[in-house]
Amino acid sequence: MVVTGEEELAICVCGQSNHWPLCDASHHTLGGEGPEIIALDKEKTYLLCQCHRSKNAPFCDGSHERI
Ligand code: FES
Repeated sequence: MVVTGEEELAICVCGQSNHWPLCDASHHTLGGEGPEIIALDKEKTYLLCQCHRSKNAPFCDGSHERI
């Protein structure tokens, strides 16, 4: 997932979001902890992990290429 122009993101830590790695507020109805807010440089582009294997979550570290 490519993210650009954002100053912060709400990252799901409850594991129930349908838009993982982003929080979709499912934690409100399904329970669990709320999101982790991470600060970004809005001038930069970021790649977020969607394969759940990154050792640098929530960012992609290329692990999906080794699956
Ligand atoms: S949906 Fe998981 S933290 Fe919000």
